[in-house]
Amino acid sequence: MKTKNAAAKGIIASFVNPTSSGKVEYFEKACLLWNTEGEITYFGDVPPLETLAGQSVLLRENFIVLPGLIDLHTHLPQYEFVAQGEHALLPWLEKYTYPQEARFRESRVAEEQSRNFFESCLSLGTTTVVAYLSPFFEAAAIAFEEATKAKIRAYMGPALMDRNVPPDLQTTVNQTEKDSLFLLEKYHKKKNTEFVVTPRFAITCSEELLALSGRLSQEYKTLLQTHISENVDEVHETLRLFPTASSYAGVYDRTGCLHERTLLGHGIHLSSEELRIIQERKSVLVHCPTSNSFLGSGIMPYRLFKEQGLSMGLGTDVAGGYSLSLFDEMRTMVEVSKLRSSLLKEESTVSVENALCQATLLNARAIGRDDLGSFAVGKKADFIVVDSSMANPLLNERKNNYDALSEKLQRIVYRSHPQMVNESFIAGEKVFAR
Ligand code: GUN
Ligand code: ZN
Repeated sequence: MKTKNAAAKGIIASFVNPTSSGKVEYFEKACLLWNTEGEITYFGDVPPLETLAGQSVLLRENFIVLPGLIDLHTHLPQYEFVAQGEHALLPWLEKYTYPQEARFRESRVAEEQSRNFFESCLSLGTTTVVAYLSPFFEAAAIAFEEATKAKIRAYMGPALMDRNVPPDLQTTVNQTEKDSLFLLEKYHKKKNTEFVVTPRFAITCSEELLALSGRLSQEYKTLLQTHISENVDEVHETLRLFPTASSYAGVYDRTGCLHERTLLGHGIHLSSEELRIIQERKSVLVHCPTSNSFLGSGIMPYRLFKEQGLSMGLGTDVAGGYSLSLFDEMRTMVEVSKLRSSLLKEESTVSVENALCQATLLNARAIGRDDLGSFAVGKKADFIVVDSSMANPLLNERKNNYDALSEKLQRIVYRSHPQMVNESFIAGEKVFAR
């Protein structure tokens, strides 16, 4: 074992390590060590214990360690009303979403709910989150402050809208530029936070606001997040509002919003020409399967898109998605893929292993974070410690007949328990403990 770069801390446990092939590696017992900067210095067999003398190494032998999960699409102000509503997208936005987001004008609401949101993410194993905020600049600043206190890796921006929503939720192009420059200066790449330019979707944005979004995200090299082609009525309304555009993707393309740091939520009803543009621009399509089921939006052909070479992501899309847990999202991802395959006679489906690779390593890659998402020397020690026995059918049974690591992984994805994440670490620092 190389102990030259003496690790400040370490952990011995079972490990599941995602790979870019979509398969994972299982380690019944292994050791992870990291240095004072929170970078991994060793991952492999447990070294002779005397070589670890003097180093603080955690023993978690009955637990599974996974890389911290990465949520590429969710909405902070919507967490309070998860699992509410029986509507399709557009009426659901009017009835639930806009009134709830309006409450974030009050600082107390913004503060309490931001704190609760980040604590919930960490308690569910999400160590990196890309989130839409409410439209208010002050509430956005509060969210950045709370994320910094929680120490979570957070990529966020206020949801930009200048039309087709209640007037108190609307901003202007000039105001957006001022607010964005302030948030960029104060929070972009400071500690663990990054600013994301966030035009909500084409229906609520003027051409000028989209053009500003494209420009800011290119000039400051930030992520840009928006929604695309989630629902058939939404597509029709977009084409009605932008009559000269070639397509929904064409609206974003002509305003500079499609580039390699663009995250496009949903993308269920895209034409082959739109897919071609998105692929050419190297933008990422973020799959949000629980939301797509909950709002009855459709089934995104994740597997087909992936095989075509599109860059893909995965997100919970709370509160279109009814759970903030990426374990739940992985399960739905696998299930809708099997349904789609059996309905449409498609050959390949998404496996539990594929889903875990997407929620970690591939989501990390999609936001340019090759230093996250799996265990390898030089990467950041972001990881979670999971008590898989909580997903067992027999209560309080630590040991049962299906306890190979691959079987435990199946269990924690299909039967995820809201309290099964025991600890979460970011850059080797414990940021959540049950
Ligand atoms: N499209 C525009 N805004 C939203 C939102 O808040 N949630 C979902 N699911 N789709 C959207
Ligand atoms: Zn969304």
